[in-house]
Amino acid sequence: MGPGTRKTSRAVSRMTEIYLDYAATSAVRPPVVLEAIAGYLADIGATPGRSGHRRSLAAGRLALRCRKQLAELLGYSGDPGRVTFQLNATHALNVAIVGTLRPGDRVIGTAFDHNSVRRPLTALARRGVSSETLELSASGETDLVDLRDLLSGAGRPARLLVIPHASNVTGTVLPVKPMVDLAHEFDTLVLLDAAQTMGHFPVDVEDLGVDLVAFSGHKGLAGPQGTGGLWVREGVEVEPLLFGGTGGDSGPPEMPATFPDHLEAGTQNAPGIAGLAAATEWVLAKGVHERRREEMLLKSLLLEGLRRLPSVRILSAEGAESVGIVTLLLAGRDPGELAMTLDRDYGIQTRAGLHCAPGAHRVLGTLQTGALRLSVGWATTAGEIEQTIDAFKQLDIIGT
Ligand SMILES: Cc1ncc(COP(=O)(O)O)c(C=O)c1O
Repeated sequence: MGPGTRKTSRAVSRMTEIYLDYAATSAVRPPVVLEAIAGYLADIGATPGRSGHRRSLAAGRLALRCRKQLAELLGYSGDPGRVTFQLNATHALNVAIVGTLRPGDRVIGTAFDHNSVRRPLTALARRGVSSETLELSASGETDLVDLRDLLSGAGRPARLLVIPHASNVTGTVLPVKPMVDLAHEFDTLVLLDAAQTMGHFPVDVEDLGVDLVAFSGHKGLAGPQGTGGLWVREGVEVEPLLFGGTGGDSGPPEMPATFPDHLEAGTQNAPGIAGLAAATEWVLAKGVHERRREEMLLKSLLLEGLRRLPSVRILSAEGAESVGIVTLLLAGRDPGELAMTLDRDYGIQTRAGLHCAPGAHRVLGTLQTGALRLSVGWATTAGEIEQTIDAFKQLDIIGT
């Protein structure tokens, strides 16, 4: 039995739980993360960068350790202050999008965009920022000729290109590097949405050449909710979204130009940062490549079992580079009702619907129905995958 498999304590529901919703959040967390949060609250409790007493200094050391570990995970050897703490990937994406675009600018998104990209772009349209969408195939392929046309904008090049590193619906990893190379021909900034890759799949800012990376701390990194970050390459200007106190340099009425303070107004989520520091240390010790190897084995096992069932239609692209997400339909079953049945009768926790990414469902042809998403994570075991396949086998028989 893995850490993600547990007997629920309530007498009403004494069944095994199998958590397969890691793409939403890592609800199951490594014990070191829980201990770090409790330890911070018990022994430190103060805010990094505020006051000069020992508790505040201890919190500051913790925050710096966390930034350095995040920088290492991003393959970045420069100033760790360029890794700024944000509350989640949505917050980080908003800071990056709103902070780099001005009225009259053009921005390019993609068909796979999560609402945390699509909605800020829609909101900015009211402030004179025009956005266009790059089409993608289900397997994440894109036409670089189309991208070139969008970037060039007939002589009015785009200011920003936002790329989801991996789709949260199909799990497909996008071919980021050629897209970045092309964008830079037009001096277009590239923002990578690494919500589904950080911790699961290598995110190397030097190799990819991206300018900004937004990520969650609570998904692949297995940290607590309320954590995420935005990395900003040196030289890239981002106007703050929030203005306020930063601890030091209190005199001037403007936000400090120096990072991370520039993008970190107000008291930070220090308990969350303590948890994220432990989580990132844990991820680095295990290694992203090793985690990826394990998660891909589990995904293959799941796909192999599900593919044998006549009523299951796998929607995630096969063969393409991907993360541990499998999205599917079961003939004759509404995905929402299927998710409820899996939870109620088998203890299997999944996610149904449009997954905050209607564009990806449009590409898959499931905009009307939605689909069911299963996502593996650090605590998933082969035994849990077998139990999940068995549950689908039973549902397959019931359904036909
Ligand atoms: C691709 C993608 N981008 C952004 C987000 C938003 O992340 P967060 O929940 O950390 O705000 C998600 C969350 O599911 C996502 O999958």
